[in-house]
Amino acid sequence: MQLEDLHSLTSQALTDIANADSADALENVRVHYLGRKGKLPEIMAGLKDIAPEDRPAFGKGANDFKVQVSEALQSRKTELLSHSSPADAIDVTLPGNTGFRGGIHPIRQIMLRVIDIFDRIGFNVATGPDVESVFNNFDALNTPADHPSRDEQDTFYLSDGSLLRTQTSPIQIRHMLQNPPPVRIIAPGRAYRRDTPDATHSANFHQVEGLYVAENVSLADLKGDLTYFAHEIIGKNTNVRFRPHFFPFTEPSVEVDFTCHVCKGKGCRVCKNSGWIEILGAGMVDPRVFEQVGYNPETTTGYAFGMGLERIAMIMLEIDDIRRLYENDARFLRQFA
Ligand code: DAH
Repeated sequence: MQLEDLHSLTSQALTDIANADSADALENVRVHYLGRKGKLPEIMAGLKDIAPEDRPAFGKGANDFKVQVSEALQSRKTELLSHSSPADAIDVTLPGNTGFRGGIHPIRQIMLRVIDIFDRIGFNVATGPDVESVFNNFDALNTPADHPSRDEQDTFYLSDGSLLRTQTSPIQIRHMLQNPPPVRIIAPGRAYRRDTPDATHSANFHQVEGLYVAENVSLADLKGDLTYFAHEIIGKNTNVRFRPHFFPFTEPSVEVDFTCHVCKGKGCRVCKNSGWIEILGAGMVDPRVFEQVGYNPETTTGYAFGMGLERIAMIMLEIDDIRRLYENDARFLRQFA
């Protein structure tokens, strides 16, 4: 065998390797060229017949043969293991392996938007603790002693006589007890009620409370500011409807509806064909509440409102079950991050 033969044997081996279409076929190729009775031992045995001056070049050629064939066998083996040629094995249309970066929870996103919208018209953020006194949560808010919301079936009482606040409204009381008028606050936080969880109820949810107290605050101010809020959070085409209602701490009280953002008021499944979605409770602060915090009810006026954030998040983000907001399934949360 001469050096040229070695070169053509190498290219023949590489062709055979490329053509091997199964692991078995490839193994046969390996045995044929590198096996104990294969071409490589034959080449080495032929070394002694080569003219001494040609031996180094032939030896190097033999080594190149071994290295090239071994490497080609290895990469063809890997290729065959992936069951297809490299071009097909890589689907360039698959999304890349980017890690999940995390994001702001939908409830917090909505909370931050609400705060931002009221911040722009001069409201400051106020907060209060989740564990409240009966006075702040009920008495000072003019809630009658026999009001059903005070019932143990509705409220979580703690053994020391305090409770888990059932609304963010006690933050109004805390703030007014510590600050003289005028007051203009927005107060986000958790609230707790003894509700059995279902698609629209949770024992722990979030509210944002608003309170504006000064001289000569009127229902017109409330309507104007909530209309501004509706336009900012849902869109300029949103209409706002005020329906008479009752809350112990406001007089008069209203419930406030926004045009259904899905059907734009035409009527659909989401708004139960009414064209409206109930968004919040509001009203003019009852003079009895001012008395409780030491404000002069003769000269002080104010409006207050409270809204459930889960409700707004579910409407705006089209979430069908409130429980999804607490399960922290990353596949769900990722959609809003
Ligand atoms: N606290 C009420 C609730 O949880 C919501 C509410 C209604 C808050 C009227 C207010 C208000 O400040 O004026 O249902």
